[in-house]
Amino acid sequence: MRQAGRYLPEYRALRQKHSLLELCHKPELAAQVTLQPVERLGVDAAILFADILLPFEPLGLGLSFATGEGPQITRPIRAADQVLELPPVDPVNDLDYVLEAVRQVVRALPPRVPLIGFAGAPFTLASYAIEGGATRTFTLTKRFMYAEPRAWHELMRRLAELVGGYLAAQAHAGAHALQLFDSWVGCLSPADYATYVFPHSQRALELAGSSGAPVIHFGTDTAGLLVDFARAGGDVIGVDWRSPLDAAWERIGPGRAIQGNLDPVALLAPRSELERQVRDVLARAGRRPGHIFNLGHGVLPETPVESVQAVVEWVHGG
Ligand code: CP3
Repeated sequence: MRQAGRYLPEYRALRQKHSLLELCHKPELAAQVTLQPVERLGVDAAILFADILLPFEPLGLGLSFATGEGPQITRPIRAADQVLELPPVDPVNDLDYVLEAVRQVVRALPPRVPLIGFAGAPFTLASYAIEGGATRTFTLTKRFMYAEPRAWHELMRRLAELVGGYLAAQAHAGAHALQLFDSWVGCLSPADYATYVFPHSQRALELAGSSGAPVIHFGTDTAGLLVDFARAGGDVIGVDWRSPLDAAWERIGPGRAIQGNLDPVALLAPRSELERQVRDVLARAGRRPGHIFNLGHGVLPETPVESVQAVVEWVHGG
Protein backbone atom coordinates (compact mmCIF):
# COMPACT_ATOMS: atom_id res chain seq x y z
CA MET A 1 0.00 0.00 0.00
CA ARG A 2 1.19 3.54 0.42
CA GLN A 3 4.41 3.40 2.41
CA ALA A 4 5.53 6.88 1.47
CA GLY A 5 3.18 9.78 1.94
CA ARG A 6 2.24 12.67 4.11
CA TYR A 7 2.90 10.90 7.43
CA LEU A 8 6.66 10.93 6.64
CA PRO A 9 8.47 14.24 7.35
CA GLU A 10 11.04 13.60 4.58
CA TYR A 11 8.16 13.13 2.09
CA ARG A 12 6.43 16.32 3.26
CA ALA A 13 9.72 18.20 2.83
CA LEU A 14 9.98 17.10 -0.81
CA ARG A 15 6.31 17.92 -1.40
CA GLN A 16 6.97 21.53 -0.29
CA LYS A 17 9.15 21.84 -3.38
CA HIS A 18 7.36 19.60 -5.88
CA SER A 19 3.78 18.73 -6.77
CA LEU A 20 2.66 15.11 -6.51
CA LEU A 21 2.68 14.78 -10.30
CA GLU A 22 6.17 16.27 -10.49
CA LEU A 23 7.40 13.64 -8.00
CA CYS A 24 5.87 10.97 -10.24
CA HIS A 25 7.14 12.43 -13.54
CA LYS A 26 10.78 12.80 -12.53
CA PRO A 27 12.36 9.34 -12.14
CA GLU A 28 15.13 10.59 -9.81
CA LEU A 29 12.53 12.06 -7.43
CA ALA A 30 10.20 9.05 -7.67
CA ALA A 31 13.17 6.78 -6.91
CA GLN A 32 14.16 8.94 -3.93
CA VAL A 33 10.63 8.81 -2.45
CA THR A 34 10.41 5.04 -3.05
CA LEU A 35 13.54 4.55 -0.94
CA GLN A 36 12.41 6.80 1.97
CA PRO A 37 10.23 4.24 3.80
CA VAL A 38 12.74 1.46 3.18
CA GLU A 39 15.46 3.49 4.89
CA ARG A 40 13.24 4.81 7.66
CA LEU A 41 11.24 1.68 8.50
CA GLY A 42 13.30 -1.33 7.44
CA VAL A 43 10.32 -2.91 5.63
CA ASP A 44 10.89 -6.11 3.64
CA ALA A 45 9.85 -4.69 0.26
CA ALA A 46 9.66 -1.34 -1.46
CA ILE A 47 6.59 -0.13 -3.34
CA LEU A 48 7.27 2.06 -6.34
CA PHE A 49 6.31 5.70 -5.93
CA ALA A 50 3.76 6.48 -8.67
CA ASP A 51 -0.03 6.72 -8.82
CA ILE A 52 -2.64 4.43 -10.32
CA LEU A 53 -4.13 7.39 -12.25
CA LEU A 54 -1.00 8.28 -14.29
CA PRO A 55 -2.29 6.38 -17.39
CA PHE A 56 -5.09 9.00 -17.58
CA GLU A 57 -2.57 11.49 -18.99
CA PRO A 58 -1.79 9.55 -22.20
CA LEU A 59 -5.50 8.60 -22.35
CA GLY A 60 -6.22 12.32 -22.69
CA LEU A 61 -8.55 12.46 -19.67
CA GLY A 62 -6.56 15.18 -17.88
CA LEU A 63 -5.31 14.63 -14.32
CA SER A 64 -4.59 16.93 -11.41
CA PHE A 65 -4.40 16.63 -7.63
CA ALA A 66 -5.94 19.51 -5.70
CA THR A 67 -4.70 19.89 -2.13
CA GLY A 68 -6.99 18.06 0.26
CA GLU A 69 -9.46 17.08 -2.45
CA GLY A 70 -7.78 14.09 -4.03
CA PRO A 71 -7.57 13.45 -7.76
CA GLN A 72 -9.50 15.45 -10.34
CA ILE A 73 -10.12 14.28 -13.89
CA THR A 74 -10.64 17.20 -16.28
CA ARG A 75 -12.44 15.37 -19.10
CA PRO A 76 -14.35 12.47 -17.50
CA ILE A 77 -16.07 9.81 -19.60
CA ARG A 78 -19.80 10.50 -19.51
CA ALA A 79 -21.01 9.23 -22.91
CA ALA A 80 -20.61 5.91 -24.70
CA ASP A 81 -19.00 7.38 -27.81
CA GLN A 82 -16.15 8.86 -25.76
CA VAL A 83 -14.85 5.34 -25.15
CA LEU A 84 -14.16 4.63 -28.83
CA GLU A 85 -12.38 7.97 -29.14
CA LEU A 86 -9.81 7.15 -26.44
CA PRO A 87 -6.32 7.08 -27.99
CA PRO A 88 -4.32 3.83 -27.88
CA VAL A 89 -1.73 3.88 -25.08
CA ASP A 90 1.61 2.09 -25.26
CA PRO A 91 2.92 1.90 -21.68
CA VAL A 92 6.52 1.38 -22.82
CA ASN A 93 6.52 4.74 -24.61
CA ASP A 94 3.79 6.72 -22.88
CA LEU A 95 4.72 5.80 -19.30
CA ASP A 96 8.46 5.40 -19.88
CA TYR A 97 9.21 7.73 -16.95
CA VAL A 98 7.65 5.18 -14.57
CA LEU A 99 9.76 2.39 -16.08
CA GLU A 100 12.86 4.55 -15.71
CA ALA A 101 11.98 5.06 -12.02
CA VAL A 102 11.73 1.26 -11.67
CA ARG A 103 15.21 0.84 -13.18
CA GLN A 104 16.70 3.50 -10.90
CA VAL A 105 15.07 2.06 -7.75
CA VAL A 106 16.23 -1.48 -8.54
CA ARG A 107 19.81 -0.22 -8.90
CA ALA A 108 19.64 1.68 -5.59
CA LEU A 109 17.84 -0.85 -3.36
CA PRO A 110 19.78 -3.12 -1.00
CA PRO A 111 19.96 -6.56 -2.69
CA ARG A 112 17.66 -8.21 -0.12
CA VAL A 113 14.79 -5.77 -0.72
CA PRO A 114 12.50 -6.47 -3.69
CA LEU A 115 10.53 -3.77 -5.53
CA ILE A 116 6.75 -4.00 -6.02
CA GLY A 117 5.43 -2.32 -9.17
CA PHE A 118 1.71 -1.59 -9.46
CA ALA A 119 -1.24 -0.41 -11.49
CA GLY A 120 -4.92 0.32 -10.96
CA ALA A 121 -7.42 -2.41 -11.82
CA PRO A 122 -9.88 -1.79 -14.67
CA PHE A 123 -12.86 -1.19 -12.35
CA THR A 124 -11.15 1.26 -10.00
CA LEU A 125 -9.69 3.17 -12.96
CA ALA A 126 -13.04 3.21 -14.79
CA SER A 127 -14.71 4.60 -11.68
CA TYR A 128 -12.31 7.57 -11.54
CA ALA A 129 -12.54 8.07 -15.32
CA ILE A 130 -16.34 8.26 -15.15
CA GLU A 131 -16.88 10.03 -11.81
CA GLY A 132 -14.10 12.56 -12.45
CA GLY A 133 -12.88 12.29 -8.85
CA ALA A 134 -13.65 10.68 -5.52
CA THR A 135 -17.16 9.39 -4.79
CA ARG A 136 -18.96 7.62 -1.97
CA THR A 137 -21.80 6.11 -4.00
CA PHE A 138 -20.32 5.33 -7.46
CA THR A 139 -23.59 6.56 -8.96
CA LEU A 140 -22.25 7.71 -12.33
CA THR A 141 -20.08 4.59 -12.68
CA LYS A 142 -22.91 2.16 -12.00
CA ARG A 143 -25.36 4.13 -14.13
CA PHE A 144 -22.93 3.98 -17.07
CA MET A 145 -22.37 0.25 -16.47
CA TYR A 146 -26.12 -0.51 -16.48
CA ALA A 147 -27.16 1.91 -19.24
CA GLU A 148 -24.25 1.40 -21.64
CA PRO A 149 -23.06 -2.19 -21.16
CA ARG A 150 -21.35 -2.39 -24.57
CA ALA A 151 -19.38 0.81 -24.02
CA TRP A 152 -18.65 -0.28 -20.43
CA HIS A 153 -17.15 -3.59 -21.57
CA GLU A 154 -15.17 -1.83 -24.30
CA LEU A 155 -13.75 0.62 -21.73
CA MET A 156 -12.91 -2.22 -19.32
CA ARG A 157 -11.36 -4.28 -22.14
CA ARG A 158 -9.10 -1.38 -23.11
CA LEU A 159 -8.12 -0.67 -19.51
CA ALA A 160 -7.33 -4.35 -18.90
CA GLU A 161 -4.99 -4.48 -21.92
CA LEU A 162 -3.38 -1.20 -20.85
CA VAL A 163 -2.73 -2.08 -17.20
CA GLY A 164 -1.81 -5.70 -17.95
CA GLY A 165 0.83 -4.54 -20.43
CA TYR A 166 1.95 -1.76 -18.09
CA LEU A 167 2.47 -4.22 -15.21
CA ALA A 168 4.40 -6.63 -17.44
CA ALA A 169 6.55 -3.68 -18.62
CA GLN A 170 7.35 -2.83 -14.98
CA ALA A 171 8.46 -6.43 -14.40
CA HIS A 172 10.64 -6.28 -17.52
CA ALA A 173 12.17 -3.03 -16.20
CA GLY A 174 13.13 -4.90 -13.00
CA ALA A 175 10.15 -4.91 -10.60
CA HIS A 176 10.21 -8.18 -8.64
CA ALA A 177 6.49 -8.36 -7.88
CA LEU A 178 3.38 -6.58 -9.20
CA GLN A 179 0.25 -5.34 -7.45
CA LEU A 180 -3.12 -4.68 -9.08
CA PHE A 181 -5.15 -2.20 -6.98
CA ASP A 182 -8.91 -2.64 -7.16
CA SER A 183 -9.44 -0.31 -4.21
CA TRP A 184 -13.14 0.43 -4.77
CA VAL A 185 -14.47 -2.83 -6.22
CA GLY A 186 -16.19 -3.61 -2.89
CA CYS A 187 -18.97 -1.17 -3.83
CA LEU A 188 -20.38 -3.80 -6.21
CA SER A 189 -22.80 -6.67 -5.60
CA PRO A 190 -21.32 -10.13 -6.24
CA ALA A 191 -23.55 -10.48 -9.32
CA ASP A 192 -22.40 -7.16 -10.81
CA TYR A 193 -18.77 -8.05 -10.04
CA ALA A 194 -19.18 -11.31 -11.96
CA THR A 195 -20.88 -9.68 -14.96
CA TYR A 196 -19.14 -6.35 -15.33
CA VAL A 197 -15.67 -6.75 -13.81
CA PHE A 198 -14.47 -10.34 -13.40
CA PRO A 199 -13.38 -11.10 -17.02
CA HIS A 200 -11.48 -7.83 -17.26
CA SER A 201 -9.62 -8.23 -13.97
CA GLN A 202 -8.84 -11.79 -15.02
CA ARG A 203 -7.34 -10.54 -18.30
CA ALA A 204 -5.24 -7.82 -16.61
CA LEU A 205 -3.93 -10.34 -14.05
CA GLU A 206 -3.16 -12.88 -16.76
CA LEU A 207 -1.15 -10.34 -18.77
CA ALA A 208 0.72 -9.24 -15.63
CA GLY A 209 1.45 -12.85 -14.66
CA SER A 210 2.79 -13.64 -18.13
CA SER A 211 5.87 -11.59 -17.15
CA GLY A 212 6.78 -14.32 -14.64
CA ALA A 213 6.62 -11.95 -11.64
CA PRO A 214 4.30 -12.85 -8.74
CA VAL A 215 1.11 -10.78 -8.74
CA ILE A 216 -0.82 -9.38 -5.75
CA HIS A 217 -4.54 -8.81 -6.35
CA PHE A 218 -5.65 -6.12 -3.90
CA GLY A 219 -9.14 -4.93 -3.03
CA THR A 220 -10.99 -3.47 -0.05
CA ASP A 221 -14.45 -4.26 1.28
CA THR A 222 -14.38 -7.47 -0.76
CA ALA A 223 -15.83 -9.79 1.93
CA GLY A 224 -19.06 -10.15 -0.07
CA LEU A 225 -17.31 -11.18 -3.27
CA LEU A 226 -14.03 -12.64 -2.06
CA VAL A 227 -14.34 -16.07 -3.70
CA ASP A 228 -14.91 -14.60 -7.17
CA PHE A 229 -12.36 -11.86 -6.55
CA ALA A 230 -9.73 -14.52 -5.78
CA ARG A 231 -10.87 -16.64 -8.74
CA ALA A 232 -10.11 -13.70 -11.07
CA GLY A 233 -6.43 -14.32 -10.36
CA GLY A 234 -3.33 -13.27 -8.47
CA ASP A 235 -0.73 -15.33 -6.61
CA VAL A 236 -1.50 -13.26 -3.51
CA ILE A 237 -4.91 -11.89 -2.47
CA GLY A 238 -5.00 -8.62 -0.51
CA VAL A 239 -7.73 -8.39 2.14
CA ASP A 240 -8.75 -5.63 4.52
CA TRP A 241 -9.63 -5.70 8.23
CA ARG A 242 -13.36 -6.22 7.67
CA SER A 243 -12.79 -10.00 7.74
CA PRO A 244 -10.50 -11.84 10.18
CA LEU A 245 -7.39 -12.96 8.28
CA ASP A 246 -7.90 -16.69 8.96
CA ALA A 247 -11.54 -16.61 7.82
CA ALA A 248 -10.57 -14.75 4.63
CA TRP A 249 -7.74 -17.24 3.96
CA GLU A 250 -10.18 -20.11 4.36
CA ARG A 251 -12.34 -18.65 1.60
CA ILE A 252 -9.43 -17.82 -0.71
CA GLY A 253 -8.12 -21.38 -0.40
CA PRO A 254 -4.91 -22.83 1.01
CA GLY A 255 -3.07 -22.74 -2.34
CA ARG A 256 -2.97 -18.98 -2.42
CA ALA A 257 -0.92 -16.45 -0.46
CA ILE A 258 -2.63 -13.63 1.45
CA GLN A 259 -1.71 -10.01 2.20
CA GLY A 260 -3.13 -8.02 5.07
CA ASN A 261 -4.86 -6.98 7.09
CA LEU A 262 -4.31 -4.45 9.91
CA ASP A 263 -6.79 -1.56 10.07
CA PRO A 264 -4.74 1.59 9.23
CA VAL A 265 -6.58 3.42 12.03
CA ALA A 266 -5.05 0.97 14.56
CA LEU A 267 -1.80 2.92 14.00
CA LEU A 268 -3.50 5.86 15.73
CA ALA A 269 -4.56 3.76 18.76
CA PRO A 270 -2.66 3.61 22.06
CA ARG A 271 0.45 1.42 21.76
CA SER A 272 -1.05 -1.51 23.72
CA GLU A 273 -4.12 -1.69 21.48
CA LEU A 274 -1.98 -1.43 18.35
CA GLU A 275 0.22 -4.28 19.59
CA ARG A 276 -2.83 -6.41 20.40
CA GLN A 277 -4.19 -5.97 16.86
CA VAL A 278 -0.82 -6.70 15.20
CA ARG A 279 -0.40 -9.88 17.28
CA ASP A 280 -3.95 -10.91 16.43
CA VAL A 281 -3.21 -10.72 12.68
CA LEU A 282 0.02 -12.71 13.20
CA ALA A 283 -1.77 -15.33 15.31
CA ARG A 284 -4.45 -15.78 12.66
CA ALA A 285 -1.74 -16.27 10.02
CA GLY A 286 -0.28 -18.86 12.39
CA ARG A 287 3.17 -18.86 10.74
CA ARG A 288 1.72 -20.55 7.68
CA PRO A 289 3.86 -19.82 4.61
CA GLY A 290 2.36 -17.26 2.25
CA HIS A 291 1.36 -14.43 4.59
CA ILE A 292 2.52 -10.92 3.70
CA PHE A 293 1.86 -8.69 6.70
CA ASN A 294 0.39 -5.38 5.55
CA LEU A 295 -2.22 -2.81 6.34
CA GLY A 296 -5.68 -3.43 4.92
CA HIS A 297 -5.44 -0.05 3.14
CA GLY A 298 -3.09 2.96 2.92
CA VAL A 299 -1.27 4.71 5.76
CA LEU A 300 -3.25 7.76 6.92
CA PRO A 301 -1.50 11.17 6.88
CA GLU A 302 -1.99 11.64 10.66
CA THR A 303 -0.15 8.36 11.49
CA PRO A 304 2.79 8.68 13.94
CA VAL A 305 5.96 7.33 12.28
CA GLU A 306 6.94 5.61 15.57
CA SER A 307 3.78 3.51 15.42
CA VAL A 308 4.72 2.23 11.96
CA GLN A 309 8.24 1.50 13.19
CA ALA A 310 6.86 -0.43 16.16
CA VAL A 311 4.68 -2.56 13.86
CA VAL A 312 7.67 -3.46 11.68
CA GLU A 313 9.60 -4.52 14.80
CA TRP A 314 6.76 -6.69 16.17
CA VAL A 315 6.25 -8.36 12.80
CA HIS A 316 9.98 -9.05 12.55
CA GLY A 317 9.74 -10.91 15.84
CA GLY A 318 10.38 -8.22 18.41
O1 CP3 B 1 3.48 4.48 -0.80
C1 CP3 B 1 4.02 4.71 -1.87
O2 CP3 B 1 5.11 5.25 -1.94
C2 CP3 B 1 3.34 4.24 -3.13
C3 CP3 B 1 2.78 5.28 -3.96
C4 CP3 B 1 1.28 5.30 -4.24
C5 CP3 B 1 0.56 6.51 -4.43
N1 CP3 B 1 -0.69 6.22 -4.85
C6 CP3 B 1 1.11 7.89 -4.27
C7 CP3 B 1 0.17 8.91 -3.74
C8 CP3 B 1 0.39 4.26 -4.49
C9 CP3 B 1 0.63 2.75 -4.37
C10 CP3 B 1 -0.85 4.84 -4.89
C11 CP3 B 1 -2.02 4.05 -5.31
C12 CP3 B 1 -3.31 4.71 -5.45
N2 CP3 B 1 -3.59 5.99 -5.86
C13 CP3 B 1 -4.53 4.05 -5.22
C14 CP3 B 1 -4.69 2.59 -4.89
C15 CP3 B 1 -4.36 2.28 -3.48
C16 CP3 B 1 -5.32 2.84 -2.50
O3 CP3 B 1 -4.87 3.62 -1.63
O4 CP3 B 1 -6.50 2.50 -2.58
C17 CP3 B 1 -5.56 4.99 -5.43
C18 CP3 B 1 -7.05 4.76 -5.27
C19 CP3 B 1 -4.96 6.22 -5.85
C20 CP3 B 1 -5.62 7.47 -6.27
C21 CP3 B 1 -5.23 8.58 -5.36
N3 CP3 B 1 -4.01 9.22 -5.38
C22 CP3 B 1 -6.00 9.18 -4.34
C23 CP3 B 1 -7.41 8.75 -3.97
C24 CP3 B 1 -5.23 10.20 -3.75
C25 CP3 B 1 -5.64 11.19 -2.71
C26 CP3 B 1 -5.46 10.61 -1.37
C27 CP3 B 1 -5.68 11.63 -0.27
O5 CP3 B 1 -5.46 11.20 0.86
O6 CP3 B 1 -6.04 12.77 -0.52
C28 CP3 B 1 -3.97 10.18 -4.38
C29 CP3 B 1 -2.82 11.04 -4.06
C30 CP3 B 1 -1.59 10.31 -3.64
N4 CP3 B 1 -0.96 9.36 -4.39
C31 CP3 B 1 -0.83 10.52 -2.46
C32 CP3 B 1 0.27 9.65 -2.52
C33 CP3 B 1 1.39 9.50 -1.54
C34 CP3 B 1 -1.20 11.53 -1.37
C35 CP3 B 1 -0.10 12.41 -0.91
C36 CP3 B 1 0.14 13.73 -1.60
O7 CP3 B 1 -0.79 14.42 -2.06
O8 CP3 B 1 1.33 14.11 -1.60
